[in-house]
Formats: sequence, C-alpha cells, structure tokens
Amino acid sequence: MIRRLAAITGIQGFVPETILSNTELEKMVDTTDDWITTRTGIKERRILKEPGKAASDMGKIMVEKLLQKTNTHPDDIELVIFATVTGDMVFPDTANIVCDKVGIKNAFAFDVRAACSGFLFALTTGAKFIESGTHKKVIVIGCDMMSSIIDYTDRATCIIFGDGGGAVLLEPREDGSGIIDSVFHGDGSGAKYLHMKAGGSLRPPSLETIANKEHFVYQEGKAVFKSAINGMVDTVKKLLERNQLTLNDIKWLVPHQANIRIIHGVADALDFELSKVMINIEKYGNTTSGTIPLCLWEWESKLKKGDNIVLTAFGGGFTWGSTYLKWAY
Ligand code: COA
Repeated sequence: MIRRLAAITGIQGFVPETILSNTELEKMVDTTDDWITTRTGIKERRILKEPGKAASDMGKIMVEKLLQKTNTHPDDIELVIFATVTGDMVFPDTANIVCDKVGIKNAFAFDVRAACSGFLFALTTGAKFIESGTHKKVIVIGCDMMSSIIDYTDRATCIIFGDGGGAVLLEPREDGSGIIDSVFHGDGSGAKYLHMKAGGSLRPPSLETIANKEHFVYQEGKAVFKSAINGMVDTVKKLLERNQLTLNDIKWLVPHQANIRIIHGVADALDFELSKVMINIEKYGNTTSGTIPLCLWEWESKLKKGDNIVLTAFGGGFTWGSTYLKWAY
C-alpha cells in the first residue's frame, strides 16, 4: 500500500520592496561592505518600511497569491500554521489575523515559534494533519519581520537579518511525493546565546527594559555559529541513513540562510556539491522562518516532480533539524 503523504502543491514567496544595502549600513554603524560580505555573504536585505504594516500583511500577500496560483478557494483551507517569532502581537496568533485578512473562514489557525527552525517544524506539523486523513488543504507560512526586533545601532546583529518569507499549500498525495521524514531536536540550554530579553512574562515591557534595549535580538554569534553547523550536518546525516539515501540521491539541499560560511561549512562537512545547494542569502540575509520557503520559491521553476530535497535549519532555542521530501510537481 502506498502511504498517504502531505505534498507541497504550491509555493509563494514575498519580500518587501525596500532594500537595505551594505553601503547604507556603512552609514548607520561602524562596518564595511567588505566585512559583511566576507563574514556573512550578505549584500543586501529587505525591510518592511510602510508604517502600520506587519508580519500578517506579508502573510496576506503570499497566501492570496498562493490561493490564486493553485486555484484554491479560501473556503477550502482547513488549517493555517504561521511560523514566526515576529508575529503582529504577543497574542492572538498571526495565523488567525492572516485568515481574517484573506477571508479564510473554515480553518483553525495557530503560530509556531521555533525561530529559524520554525518553518520546518510547522511544515511537519501541518503534514501530520494531512497524513492522518483528517485534513486535505493546509497552508504553512514561514515569515518574519526581523527589522521589528533589530537594534540598528548594533553592528553585530543589524547586518544579518531581513524581512520576508513564503507560504506553501499542502495536499494529500499517494504517488510517493510529499514530506517523507524529519529529524528534529531542541536544547533549551542554548537559549542564553540567542534570545530577546524582555517582552515576555519573565520581563514584561517597562521603561527599564526599553532603556536597556532588551526588546531586540541578543546573540552570541560564535556559539550559534558552531552549533548551527554541527546540528544541521548531524540531522542531515541521520535523515539520509534512516531513509537509506546517499548524497547522490539528493537533488537539492536547502539550508537555512544564516551565514554563507555556515552554509559552506555544512556542504563541506557533508561533502555535498555547492551547485546543488540553494543559496540566496546575498539578496535577503537571514529572514528567520522565511529563508527556506524563500529559497524553494525562487528555485520553483527548476524543481521537477520526484526530486529528492533535504531542508535543514538551526535556530534560537536552540532548535534544529532536517526534513526529507519528494517534490510533487
Ligand atoms: N562590522 C565590522 N566588524 C564587526 C561587525 C561588523 N558588522 N560585527 C562584529 N565585528 C567585529 C567584532 O567586534 C570583533 O571585533 P574584535 O575582534 O575587535 O573584538 C570581530 O568583528 C569578530 O567578531 P565575531 O563576532 O567573532 O565575528 P564572527 O566571525 O563570529 O562573525 C557573525 C559574526 C554574527 C556574523 C557570526 O558569528 C555568525 O554568523 N554567527 C551565527 C549567527 C546566526 O546564524 N544567527 C541566526 C540563528 S541561526
């Protein structure tokens, strides 16, 4: 019997129009285009600048286009999962706000907050509802508005992050295509290296937290760097072994876009050809939950039915893991 899998049957990305280039950052903090390019591989990132706009507005645009592209009526969507750490508000979940903005009325919706691993965790969560047979049309969004939590006077973080993401439609397939397996991990002891100090129940917003700049990303880059390479490499290897695959069987590796040196480090450690690694970090920087769907969207025209694809991510938490899927169209 062929197993019912959840397949990605459409993808739509979105990035805001405003470009923040390295040259502009040179005017804002003590940095250089050369330092940013050689240390991170990033040349520019997109920023959602329009006042009053937030993560749900990016979600709305990508979901509307996705529905149009896949010829899907909003009434047919049964579940929407939004992976983000920069939702419009602490609550309600941004997935609900997107449903309202798009006119999706028959779905339940919630957010997943797993930082840069968010899209992978949300994708597998959504896939389980389809595999179980209870749901037939699920939308998974990975999108962040990192500019809303970045201190643009901190040169160590403001050069890395950007805004944007993508949304996928998941539907059942019984032809072998779809999301086949995932290896995921979490380690809360990594929280100290990458977090936002205030704004939650531990340190609710106050004049003091604002004065101390505690509502911005705090990162110890070096600790994150090493763990990111090890975590992604380890889970890709486990995934390949568990599914009896060799690297030659993999058509595309889609790594979270955090730093070009991390991406190269992962490819080197796996001995995986760089020409088969999706890389667009130079244009968008690190969009957190957004990087992997943004890659898949940009590569969509090159993907073929049956392509074996491995997605891999590492992020705050720490959270990390890899997902193996067979492209469905
Ligand atoms: N421009 C110029 N110099 C900078 C700089 C900038 N934008 N940012 C940091 N520096 C300086 C530091 O102050 C330090 O100077 P010092 O040696 O005089 O103290 C020097 O460059 C090296 O800093 P360091 O932090 O050790 O650099 P790095 O090579 O580790 O690169 C990151 C910094 C943040 C780019 C890198 O650690 C990284 O990408 N980490 C992973 C981040 C990540 O993936 N986060 C998302 C979660 S997955």
